[in-house]
Amino acid sequence: MKFFIDTANLQEIRESAELGILDGVTTNPTLLSREAGDPFENLKKICEVVSGPVSAEVIATDVKGMVREAHELVRIAENIVIKLPTTKEGVKACKILSSEGVQVNMTLVFSAAQAVLVARAGAAFVSPFVGRIDDVSSDGMRLIEQIVQIYGNYGFETEILVASVRHPMHVVQAALMGADICTIPYKVILQLFKHPLTDVGIERFLSDWKKIRR
Ligand code: G3P
Repeated sequence: MKFFIDTANLQEIRESAELGILDGVTTNPTLLSREAGDPFENLKKICEVVSGPVSAEVIATDVKGMVREAHELVRIAENIVIKLPTTKEGVKACKILSSEGVQVNMTLVFSAAQAVLVARAGAAFVSPFVGRIDDVSSDGMRLIEQIVQIYGNYGFETEILVASVRHPMHVVQAALMGADICTIPYKVILQLFKHPLTDVGIERFLSDWKKIRR
């Protein structure tokens, strides 16, 4: 399973890239709004740090506007992926852009029906929001299970990008289910490294070693 980071913060992206396990970045208007400076300049800098796909989302809600914005965004860098909302207009724009060879990430996916639609429209990535489904007392990871099964049934090539990840168990479950990618906030990436027994084990090895090497 590939690891993307879900942030527009350059420092977090740099630090994750240094770990050697970063495959891409997902941004959205909310994440970009949290950073100082011009969002387009910030996207450009992100694309210089990471060679993998960097998702940039359109603001328009109509097909024409989405396609126009997408054409502007792809000029930022070769690794820009266009993020579109999963609406009727978004699916139409996805078909147009993917036919032109533009990579599209269909976002705000909350149902298996939406996942089928975006795969049929040629999306390169589908982004189901698991945390937000959990937030409304439903099971976000059940949706991932369904999409993995449906895409497997038909050999759809759209990559399943698990989004709205809130804790390490979302990542573990996504891997167990065979999702292609998890996009993970920086805080959760750091949590993945932690295990109390690892810390205790290191302490014990070091103190035992000190007994024989004074
Ligand atoms: O990639 C989508 C993600 O940014 C949404 O996460 O935590 O706002 O539901 P969240």
